[in-house]
Amino acid sequence: MRNVTLFNAPGHRFVLLHESEPGEEEGIRSNQYLVLHEGRGVLLDPGGFGVMPGVLTELLQYIEPRELKAIILSHQDPDIVGGLSTWLELTEAPVYAPCIWFRFLPHYGIRDLSRFVPVPDEGMACEFSPGFQLKLVPAHFLHSEGQLNVYDPIARILFTGDIGGAMLPSDLEYEFVDDFARHLPYIEGFHRRYMCSIRAVQCWVETVSGLDIDMLAPQHGPVYRGRAVQDFIGWLSNLKCGIDLMVPGGRFADGTRS
Ligand SMILES: [Fe+2]
Ligand SMILES: [Fe+2]
Repeated sequence: MRNVTLFNAPGHRFVLLHESEPGEEEGIRSNQYLVLHEGRGVLLDPGGFGVMPGVLTELLQYIEPRELKAIILSHQDPDIVGGLSTWLELTEAPVYAPCIWFRFLPHYGIRDLSRFVPVPDEGMACEFSPGFQLKLVPAHFLHSEGQLNVYDPIARILFTGDIGGAMLPSDLEYEFVDDFARHLPYIEGFHRRYMCSIRAVQCWVETVSGLDIDMLAPQHGPVYRGRAVQDFIGWLSNLKCGIDLMVPGGRFADGTRS
């Protein structure tokens, strides 16, 4: 387990908080991110139940849980929400989540939804303290029906949730994508099977086209930087996936597997 600082300037930091080592996390390995601004923090996709103690330990290097101003959930999956009920006991921070997933959150043992902020389909702009702003950007059907990205205009980093996520073999690890062509084999099957359709992809590409992006930070696998950012977006914008490829009988036209 180790942290990777993606952006560091006086008063503002964007940290990949817990990059788990191969074999350390059951199931798919996931990234958790902490955005820090003048002693306050926002936690993005806190992770499943199993990683919660490790994520907390790493977070304590930077801030106390009570200094969290928000937790943001990109969507409803267990690798994101699984540890949330414990976080709710440690912090008073509001939890932002896509509005369509609210009725499902009680199934994670969350009874009191009063601390939750429903994010409308169009996304929203948030200001957590003076000068500490994040933009919640819609990315619906990529892969979840209600999905959010989070844009940090100071770090110029877009947290993309499962978009850009890589399924690296257990014996392979690298922190950044610099050579997109070499990275492609680890994302292709996942995107073809889990992403909904080229229509959803193209809506997202247009939505994020106005953002100034230095890095794409996914919830799984390495972070895209430099040329790899536009290389990835260019590849994705032409990708037939999900229902574009589906044929009767549960198969996919190009033999796609995740
Ligand atoms: Fe997911
Ligand atoms: Fe995920």
